[in-house]
Amino acid sequence: MAKRCDKHNDSSQMQKILQPDVTDRSGQEEKHKQGPEAKCDATDKADQASPCSSKPPCAGVERGREEKRDERVWKQREEATDSCCLLEDLRRLPPSRVTPERLSFGETHTVLVDVGLFNSGGGVQAQQGRDMWHSNFVKLPCSPSSWMNKTILKIHTSQVKRWEVISKALERLAKKKTVMVDNVEEAIMEYNPKYKGQWSFDALSSFVKCIPEAENYSPALLPKIAALASRLHEHVKKAIPLLQRGRTASITLSQVQISCLLANAFYCTFPHRNTSAPNAEYHSYPTINFNSLFGQWSVRKKEKLRAIMHYFKTVTDDNSKPRGLVTFERHCLKDTDTPKWRSCEETMPKLHVTSDGRIETEGTGMLQVDFACNLIGGGVLSSGLVQEEILFLMNPELIVSRLFTEKLGDNECLIIKGSQQFSCYSGFSDSFEWAGPHDDRLTRAKRECGRLHRQILAIDALRYRHRREQYSMLQVTRELNKAFCGFKAYGQSDPDIATGKWGCGAFNGDPQLKAVIQLMAAAVAKKGMAFFTFEDEMFKECLQQMYCLLAAQGITVGNLYGLLEDYCAIKQTADVELFQFIRSNLPKSLL
Ligand code: APR
Repeated sequence: MAKRCDKHNDSSQMQKILQPDVTDRSGQEEKHKQGPEAKCDATDKADQASPCSSKPPCAGVERGREEKRDERVWKQREEATDSCCLLEDLRRLPPSRVTPERLSFGETHTVLVDVGLFNSGGGVQAQQGRDMWHSNFVKLPCSPSSWMNKTILKIHTSQVKRWEVISKALERLAKKKTVMVDNVEEAIMEYNPKYKGQWSFDALSSFVKCIPEAENYSPALLPKIAALASRLHEHVKKAIPLLQRGRTASITLSQVQISCLLANAFYCTFPHRNTSAPNAEYHSYPTINFNSLFGQWSVRKKEKLRAIMHYFKTVTDDNSKPRGLVTFERHCLKDTDTPKWRSCEETMPKLHVTSDGRIETEGTGMLQVDFACNLIGGGVLSSGLVQEEILFLMNPELIVSRLFTEKLGDNECLIIKGSQQFSCYSGFSDSFEWAGPHDDRLTRAKRECGRLHRQILAIDALRYRHRREQYSMLQVTRELNKAFCGFKAYGQSDPDIATGKWGCGAFNGDPQLKAVIQLMAAAVAKKGMAFFTFEDEMFKECLQQMYCLLAAQGITVGNLYGLLEDYCAIKQTADVELFQFIRSNLPKSLL
């Protein structure tokens, strides 16, 4: 149940300024206007005191000096109410089919497909290159530098090339018409002998047994995934650089290359990626092998596997496999680019607030915010199932970012351009259900290999064990910089932001504070914002009214930063909501 926003301010002085004197009991309630502007005052009687209600002061009220001020404020409010823009007023990427873009690589942008061929319209082919068994690159399973101990007849152990063992095991599976989970387990254990008895496959087994016959394409699909995985050395010929902390860099790969890398993740072939011990080589990277998805059966795992298997069914079918490109960009905010929040003069950006819809549907074409974990993808390969995990299951190509994206720093974000949505879903968390294929209306015709117009921005909020931890300017400023790093990553001509209660679910953040922080960041980034409250009607109204007030008063980001400093100070001793505090403490000079 959404936390009740207390829309009554408790400062009597403020009440006079912003609210009509409700002593008039003529009972002749003015009919609320219909239409969007009425939203701000479409509140029930108890909320008539709503500071954003656009009703003029009641007739018959003595007009003193203060009343004159009320009128001025109400007039501003009226205009401000209209400034809650419509969703259509916000900038999106055109949904139209994309014409193949001109591709280029550079010192900080690695392209894994042949750029010359692509730009000449010759389609998508793997770029030639050499293997790099190096700490700045992904250690690929097919690398000639990857060795393993192989025990023969339990007596003789020798060093063999690990890819020989892997490809033999995968080709054995690929040749079968149907593959059972035992066969999968046996193959995976062959080249991961260290984890024999540690990795369980009960979730995968139960999944294959309990999925309805009509949907249970797994036994025939598992060999196809194995065949795709076994061609890694053909699909990926150029070393994949790691997107390392502190360095702005990007990688472009084809959707086919991504599917091959994910098929290898499915068959757990990536070396050195199975331990997150502090001294482990990849301890600061997310896991990538799917073994954690195959164990600890739960309803959640079943629904996750339905989405994953649908993805592989699509990409292993020549008639449906996607042929576009996806780019992963790590952005680091330089100190010189970090705003001096206290002195920012920007006023509120365009804002649309709605309790209907979701970021990924109604926010199509906008820069869609992923409420991320600093280890990108969070619990998508284990039991997590909130906004980010759902996003990654609907767009499984995002999972490959876990292969090369190091833990995000406080001043960093990851942007993914061109990923495809393969599935639909319903519910959330424990009620999440895979809801069938998604026909990505941005899907290209087979011959086109441009890029889908979908841009996803992964920014990780801070996690609070206790809510009061967030009321400190150190934390607030970190969140401002994090959001700004992502929001400003593109020029002003790029899409506006589609966001919501970032950091306010699993991470226990304060929705009012996070909404103000995102508004401030969007203002300085010169971006409009669509805020999806995810069916929280109460919060939608509160945020609309708060926004109306801030817009009407021409509040600057610098003003807000000062108010947040005062708020954090009193929050240590007083339990007052941010919106109420702002209403009661607007700089008098603005009224
Ligand atoms: N569109 C709009 N709002 C949404 C959507 C959506 N598709 N999905 C969820 N929300 C709202 C819900 O109200 C939710 O409570 O966003 C709120 C926050 O979602 P969380 O996923 O809990 O985000 P956060 O608090 O930032 O936690 C991030 O959870 O998913 C993991 O890997 C992620 O570790 C990270 C943590």
